[in-house]
Amino acid sequence: MRTQVGIVGAGPAGLFLAHLLRQEGIAATVLERHDRAYVEGRVRAGVLEQNTMDVLARLGFDQRMRSEGLVHEGVNIVSDAKMFRIDLADRSGKRVVIYGQQEVMHDLFDAANQLGVPIIFNANDVKLHDVATKPYITWREDELLERLDCDFIAGCDGFHGISRDSIPPDARTSFERVYPFGWLGILADVPPAHHELIYANHLRGFALASMRSRTRSRYYLQCDLHDRIEDWPDERFWDELILRLGPQAHISTGPSFEKNITPLRSFVTEPMRYGSLFLLGDAAHIVPPTGAKGLNLAVSDAVMLSESLAAYYRCGIRSTLDSYSDRALARIWKAERFSWWFTGLTHRFPETDAFGRKMQTAELAYLRQSDALQTAFSENYVGLPLN
Ligand code: FAD
Ligand code: DHB
Repeated sequence: MRTQVGIVGAGPAGLFLAHLLRQEGIAATVLERHDRAYVEGRVRAGVLEQNTMDVLARLGFDQRMRSEGLVHEGVNIVSDAKMFRIDLADRSGKRVVIYGQQEVMHDLFDAANQLGVPIIFNANDVKLHDVATKPYITWREDELLERLDCDFIAGCDGFHGISRDSIPPDARTSFERVYPFGWLGILADVPPAHHELIYANHLRGFALASMRSRTRSRYYLQCDLHDRIEDWPDERFWDELILRLGPQAHISTGPSFEKNITPLRSFVTEPMRYGSLFLLGDAAHIVPPTGAKGLNLAVSDAVMLSESLAAYYRCGIRSTLDSYSDRALARIWKAERFSWWFTGLTHRFPETDAFGRKMQTAELAYLRQSDALQTAFSENYVGLPLN
């Protein structure tokens, strides 16, 4: 088999890239270790930036997002049991939409089926070969060894994938911060606590009220890294959430049907290219989820790489590919900074003493009153431009 771009991973980075390349007339084949139901079933991101909405619109896959997504013009922050609102639309001219990653993936997979974008599911033991020069990919399918020759490989296989490790260690540098807590997330079919998101800083830890629809809520609590799901029966979760979000949140309780714990990490590997191999999305960088940036960064990487590859296939000059890594990293580091800053502002750290807590509440009080800070917050939350 032969294609122009071999894509490893059918998550957001891989599928957005496949569709964007198709729009440019570039052939790509996607290899995915799991099946569609597994990838679509993962409950993850909920907030799409304006940039991401625009890309879905440009691809023509935005009908469901426009009819079912909830457009939000502001977010709310609770500090010291008092809530204030940041008007994102007023301060940045942009909005975000609440439309779950599961829905985005559903739309991308349906479109791939309709348009004939090749996706090979259940590809086992995927290996990348000769990535510096003339790359090819091998994998096992029903015990048969398959091979795909390509001009380029796009590593879109997430943080635990194989692509990043296919770059020799002396050709990449990694930067990492691991946070001393996790997020416990639940889904429940109860009406959301508020019509917009609420991020809460509480002495007992961070809490977030989000949603998937007008009848489905998504809530998160900062939890201990060693906590297990069994430690958090619904009753304990609701009691803790009500306490941390404070009186302005009108929480309806009910049985949860999904509960998971996610560790928090900041991570970047540089550069995002080695020869004919490019890294995109979580394969190259991770943000703590507080700023809701992960999926959105995967999409902006896909846009930038598709533009570089389109320029290369138009004029045949390999130097058009050189800009991808620098251009992507310039935006990624700003999102890393915002996610790290917002995490530090809203979470309880083991080393936070009385002084540290005073610093957090003073900064939140300043955010509440400062036009400049609210503008900076809004610009970052809705997503920085792609240039
Ligand atoms: P992934 O989604 O990890 O996809 C990688 C794919 O590659 C997977 O399908 C995997 O099966 C496949 N794969 C892995 N290894 C191999 C292999 N060896 N061979 C073949 N295939 C392979 N982001 C936001 O923007 N907004 C949010 O509100 C938000 N909230 C989040 C909340 C939580 C609780 C979590 C956990 C994440 C959140 N994120 C959010 C982050 C977002 O979900 C990720 O950043 C996004 O999924 C990254 O997409 P990706 O395609 O790079 O990687
Ligand atoms: C959601 C996740 C986030 O990380 C965030 O900052 C806001 C919302 C969500 O899953 O709805």
